[in-house]
Amino acid sequence: NTYVVIMAGGIGSRFWPFSRTSYPKQFHDVLGVGKSMLQTTVERFADICPPENLFVVTNKDYGKLVKEQLPELSDNQILLEPIGRNTAPCIAYASYKIAQLNPNANLVVTPADHVVLKQDVFKGVINDALAAAAKDDVLITLGITPSRPDTGYGYIQYIDDEAFKTKKVKTFTEKPNLELAKMFLDSGDFVWNSGIFIWNVKSILKAFHQHLPEVTEVFEEGVTTLNTPQEQNFITRAYSHCRNVSIDYGIMEKVDNVYVLLADIGWSDLGTWNSLYTINDKDDNGNVIDGDVILYDTKDCIIKTPKERLVVLQGLEDYIVAEYDNVLMICKKTEEQKVKEFMADAKSKK
Ligand code: GDD
Ligand code: MG
Repeated sequence: NTYVVIMAGGIGSRFWPFSRTSYPKQFHDVLGVGKSMLQTTVERFADICPPENLFVVTNKDYGKLVKEQLPELSDNQILLEPIGRNTAPCIAYASYKIAQLNPNANLVVTPADHVVLKQDVFKGVINDALAAAAKDDVLITLGITPSRPDTGYGYIQYIDDEAFKTKKVKTFTEKPNLELAKMFLDSGDFVWNSGIFIWNVKSILKAFHQHLPEVTEVFEEGVTTLNTPQEQNFITRAYSHCRNVSIDYGIMEKVDNVYVLLADIGWSDLGTWNSLYTINDKDDNGNVIDGDVILYDTKDCIIKTPKERLVVLQGLEDYIVAEYDNVLMICKKTEEQKVKEFMADAKSKK
């Protein structure tokens, strides 16, 4: 009864210019391991669910890319969204579709842009979560011990009952401001939401009914078209009526049956340049280098440039130097939250 839903429709705007609307980061080999982040994500579930139970939700513009990278998937396993409406509609679509195939399905929902270093621990944690989700009406997320007051994550406060592995969640706060994030971190009571969710399909659809009824209405209207040749037509119409909302704001902050499983899985979200900097090996001066470079008095930089370009840098400290597909960006590492804006401005310039 295990099904996996990979959300792979984001544009990765905080990773510009490497991540582009035409080729977002999940399709890149960000880590230089010879596989894209999407392919790595699929591999992570190889012995967790049968290959035919794995679904990828993405934008229709990336359908071809997904097929190229995952030729083993059938067309029915690739869900194409006409427009990006964030993760709540994406999860609703996959849930309704899978519920039609198997009303007792247990789902693992995962982003396509994460690193998990401890595969064995991951497998164990997922199986524990699946067992709990099969039994009870619970929404489970994997919790990660936070290391910095990052405002890009959801923060979870839980009731620490030694007797239970899955812990009841008291509060879920999506993307707090810096002040709040610092308080959460200092209190020692909070973990990050990994964005990897486990639940029974009935539980998540019930939560949608309660908290995002307008989304359920849209999908229920055409539920019988799912897994038929009419699906794509219906979905195109349905998405035009769907509002843009993430699962975190739309459901997780609101429900009272959230549980967290603390997961020491070697996790990181490769969402930003700093996250890439953090997980990579540095040279003696603290630089992360992927490219052909000569450096003078340069430290603590992350440099990612095309192999065919020789890059010479002098006197730089704490900078991102990134070139990809005709865009060169040089930005202070501490200002990386502005990268999203740069992407928008660069688009409007074209
Ligand atoms: N199909 C589809 N459609 N996928 C989407 C869409 C969409 O409209 N929007 C985002 N995604 C995919 C992204 O590609 C990514 O794999 C995943 O959904 C999560 O989206 P992000 O945009 O990366 O979310 P986030 O990083 O800001 O926040 C989430 O993840 C954090 C941990 O990485 C939240 O769940 C946070 O609470 C969490 O801490
Ligand atoms: Mg993310």
